[in-house]
Amino acid sequence: MKIAVTGKSGQVVTSLLERGAAAGHEVIALGRPEMDLADPASVLRGIKDVMPDVVVSAAAYTAVDRAESESDIAYAVNALGAGAVAEAAKALDVPLVHLSTDYVFDGELERPYCENDTTRPTGVYGASKLAGEQAVMDAYGDNSAVLRVAWVYSPFGSNFVKTMLRLAADKDEISVVADQLGNPTSALDIADGILKVAGNLVADSDPGLRGVFHMTAAGEASWADLAQAIFAASLDLGGPSALVRKITTADYPTPAARPANSRLDCDMIADVHNVALQDWHGALKTVVARLQVVATESLPR
Ligand SMILES: NC(=O)c1ccc[n+]([C@@H]2O[C@H](COP(=O)([O-])OP(=O)(O)OC[C@H]3O[C@@H](n4cnc5c(N)ncnc54)[C@H](OP(=O)(O)O)[C@@H]3O)[C@@H](O)[C@H]2O)c1
Repeated sequence: MKIAVTGKSGQVVTSLLERGAAAGHEVIALGRPEMDLADPASVLRGIKDVMPDVVVSAAAYTAVDRAESESDIAYAVNALGAGAVAEAAKALDVPLVHLSTDYVFDGELERPYCENDTTRPTGVYGASKLAGEQAVMDAYGDNSAVLRVAWVYSPFGSNFVKTMLRLAADKDEISVVADQLGNPTSALDIADGILKVAGNLVADSDPGLRGVFHMTAAGEASWADLAQAIFAASLDLGGPSALVRKITTADYPTPAARPANSRLDCDMIADVHNVALQDWHGALKTVVARLQVVATESLPR
C-alpha cells in the first residue's frame, strides 16, 4: 500500500514509517512546514500530491496540559485539522484511519470503556479530539475508521517511559500517580494495528469495518505500575532504576484533569478487524531495550 500519514516526527508516525517499510509498504510522512493541520489548504494539497491508497491521520496537538491555555490552537489542529484530512481522503476516494484518544471519557465508569459509552472529556485536549472524531465522521464517516489509542510510549519523541528513565539517572526515588488506570500502549504495536486496519479498509468496502474502535495493548496499569515495570526492565538491562513512591492525583495537581479510569475495551476491533495488540508488559520490555541500546551507543568512547 501507498500510505500518506500526517505528522513527521511523532511517536506513531515514526513507528509507522518503521513498521510500514518492514512490511513492504510505502509510507510518506506529511507535516510542517509544508503541511500544517491548522492550514486546511495545505492539508488538501499535501495529501493530493501523494495520491495514496489510504490516509492515516496520526498528527495532533498532544500537549494535554498546555491545551488548557491554548484551546484555539488545540481545536484548530485536532478538530478542524482532522476534518480537513477527512475531506482530503474523501476528495481522493481513499479510506482514512484517524487516531483519537481515551481522554474522550471522564473516567467515572468502573469498567473498561466500550466504543458506544458516553463521552465526556475532562479537559480541552480530550474535547478537541472528540470534536475531531465528530468532524471525521461528519465529513467521511462512510469510509473512515477512528481508532482510540491510549497512554502511548515508544523509542521516539517524548513520552512517559523516556521521562522516567531520564529522571532515574539522577534520582533514587520518584513520586508517581497511582490512582489513574489505563492501558499503556507501544506506538510500534499501534503502527502494526493501523497497517492491519488500513489493509482491511483498502481491500473491503464493508461498512462494518468503518466507525469508531478502541485499540490499546492488553492489560491495565496505573502510572505507578508502569513506572515500576519500566525500572524493573531497565535494571535487568543494566540501565537506570529508581524506587517508585505512590502518590494520588490530588498530590500532583495539573492544569488538565485526567480521567481516573480510561481503560478501553478492545473486543470490537478484535472481532471486526482481527487486531489484538500484545500485553503491555512484553511491549514495554522491547521499547526499554531499544532505548537502552541508544543510551549505550551515545556514551563517550
Ligand atoms: N501520546 C499519547 O499518549 C496519546 C494518547 C492517546 C491518543 N493519542 C493520539 O495518538 C496520535 C499520535 O500521538 P503521538 O503520541 O504519536 O503524538 P506526538 O508524538 O506528540 O506527535 C504529534 C505529531 O503531530 C504533529 N503536529 C502537531 N501539530 C501539527 C500541525 N499543526 N500540523 C502538522 N503536524 C502537526 C507533530 O509534528 P511536529 O514534529 O512538527 O511537532 C508530530 O509529528 C494523536 O492523534 C494523539 O492525539 C496519543
